[in-house]
Formats: sequence, structure tokens, C-alpha cells
Amino acid sequence: MAGSFVPLVYAAGRPKVGMGTASLDVRKVDAGGHPVVIGPDALRVLDQEIGSASTASAFFILGDTNTLRHCLPELLAHVPTLREASTIAVPPGEPSKSLAVCQDIWRHLMDSEADRKCHLINLGGGVISDLGGFIAATYKRGITFHNVPTSVMGMVDASIGGKTGIDLFGVKNMVGAFHDPAAAYIHPMFLKSLGKRELMNGVAEMVKHGLVQDAKHWDAVRTAPLQDLGTLALLIEHSAEIKAGIVKRDPREHDQRKVLNFGHTIGHGIEAHSWESPHRSLLHGEAVVAGMVCETWLSWRTGSLDRGAHDQVVEHLLDLYPTYRMESSDPHRIIALMRNDKKNSEGSFRFSLLTDIGEAKVDVAISAAQIQEALEHYRSLVKGHSRKA
Ligand code: GLY
Repeated sequence: MAGSFVPLVYAAGRPKVGMGTASLDVRKVDAGGHPVVIGPDALRVLDQEIGSASTASAFFILGDTNTLRHCLPELLAHVPTLREASTIAVPPGEPSKSLAVCQDIWRHLMDSEADRKCHLINLGGGVISDLGGFIAATYKRGITFHNVPTSVMGMVDASIGGKTGIDLFGVKNMVGAFHDPAAAYIHPMFLKSLGKRELMNGVAEMVKHGLVQDAKHWDAVRTAPLQDLGTLALLIEHSAEIKAGIVKRDPREHDQRKVLNFGHTIGHGIEAHSWESPHRSLLHGEAVVAGMVCETWLSWRTGSLDRGAHDQVVEHLLDLYPTYRMESSDPHRIIALMRNDKKNSEGSFRFSLLTDIGEAKVDVAISAAQIQEALEHYRSLVKGHSRKA
């Protein structure tokens, strides 16, 4: 799959928007609890911010072995303040969101005599910002951290909004805390060496942003030449803006932020199920796409979405993403895995469902039998579908 993909090139430009320093090509978006700094000069802003943070006692950079190899040189080239920072490497992938890895990082910080005034820089995708944010929320009851996402998933979703956490006993994000970063710095040039699978992983969240809030963004994302880094950067900017706007209105997910859970209720169950057979484990975005197919069907089945909109969404998602093949017993297991989901309330599953392309409603109670029906429907769709992309 990655081999057939055109490498990213920075072709289209982006409009310069000043943020007090006219010469910097960045845009600053307010996510309520923290700013999101986006654009080619985002890392220069990070350097200015931490360079003037005279109270910082030390800097630690958390990354996985890939991001430290491929992205750390670029980070240090733009952020000289970090050249003396200590680096902490974890293995790439979801298994690093574990208590054992947390213990290793806490131990490293203690051995380095890191105090409450140290700063953590999270250099990586969603796994690193979830894990590093959780470390920052808990180490000595909380230290300052900065998110520097290096994947599309990190840039449009995980680095924004202060959700941090790790997985426990096979359940995703079971333990965590809301803890806002000082800021998220989005530097699209990190994406220049990203493979197609990783890219499409994050695009799934961009598709979701369009579906729940902005029909034009849905159209733009599904028709744009995503292999062009300039085009992708502009779409990432808009997706980050959508996410920041939602988080700003409802930072602690009491109400409106739940729209961002569209596709994730069943998606998390499918993702956890895929980990049980490592040879077919899905990336988060791939599982969310399968979840979005099921939840778009539930939106139609419960009468909130019309058939035409349903068909448009489902056809696009099935054409663009790999499907998840299930045995007849798998829906039952997926539902069992979903029972620990934080979104459940008073014994029932709570869903965010579409009311139109670009609109969603939250807190829809759905029974286990309806989820079973949605998963059976997905199974039959997958059997009969041959992918175009
Ligand atoms: N990833 C969904 C949220 O941040 O609310």
C-alpha cells in the first residue's frame, strides 16, 4: 500500500497570518485551555516560549524510536533551547501506553532528579501525546508539557484538548486525566516522510471532523490531493481549528465535545478486538473508520440520517480504507470489550450519531442488540465489497 503512494511535496503555499511577530509564518488558534500554534514557523514560536521560560529547571523530550530518529534533528534545528535536553525513548505503537512504560519514564525522571519545574516535550503521534500528557499530569502531581505532534493523527486530534491516558487490561484509555499542554505546535514538515498508512490513519479523524461539524470540510478532505503537503497542511489547519473550537466550547466533555466520539464507540471495541490477534491489529484511525461505517448505519437505522447521506459516507469510507473481516462470533466479543467504555452511562451505550453530513447529536442510547445488528451489517458489507483505492 505505502509503495504506491506519491511522496509528499510542499507545493501549495499557506497564507501568512501574524501573531504579534509579523515575520513568523504561523497561526494561533485558541483551544480554551491552551493555544494551538500552526504553520512553518511553529517550532520557532516554541523556541521563543521555552527560551523565555526562565523558570524551567530542565527539559525532557519524550519520543518513540522512530520520531527520535526522524524528527528530533528537525526539532533541534528549529529549537536550539532544547539542544541540552535529555531524551526519553519508548517503543513505537500502542503497547507503549502501558503502566510498565509509565513506570520506566517516572523512574527516568526521578533518577534525573527532575523537579516540578521541569518541562516535558512530547515529540510524536497520538501515542506519545496521550502517554506523555499522562506522565506530565501525574509526575509530582503535574508538570508543564508541550505537544509537538509528528503525525496527522497527532496534529488534528491527540495533541489538542488535554485528554491524556494509557490503556489498561486491553481497554483503551482506561486510566487518564485531563491535563492541558502549555501549547500544541503543529509543524507540517514533519509529515514529509510519512507513509500512506500512517497518513490515512490521521485523515480518518479529519473525515470525522467534517462529518460531525463541517460538510464543506468533508467534501474538501475526500476530494483533495492529500499527497500534496501544502494542500494537506491547509486541511490539517482547518481540522485542528474545528477540534480546537469544539474543545474550547466544552473542554471537559460534558456535552458538545462528545460529537468527537462519533465512530469511536464501536471503533474502540473493534480496535481492542484487533489487538487480540496481533497479525490483524488495526491502527486507531482504521478502527474508527470501521466504527464510523457502523455508526453511520445506526444513524440511518434510528431515523436521524437519510439514506442518501448514509450511502455517500459509507461508500467513501469503504473505498478508501481497509476493512475489518470478522467471524460470526466476533460481534459478541466486540460488544463485551465495549462494556468498559467511558462513554457508557447508567448501564447503556451512549452514541454520538449523525443527523446530516456536517451535523451530529450526542448521548443517543443504543442497546447491545442494535450494536450487534450494526456489526452484522458491517460484516455483510465487507463480504460484498471490493475496494477501489
Ligand atoms: N479525541 C476526542 C477528543 O479529544 O475529545
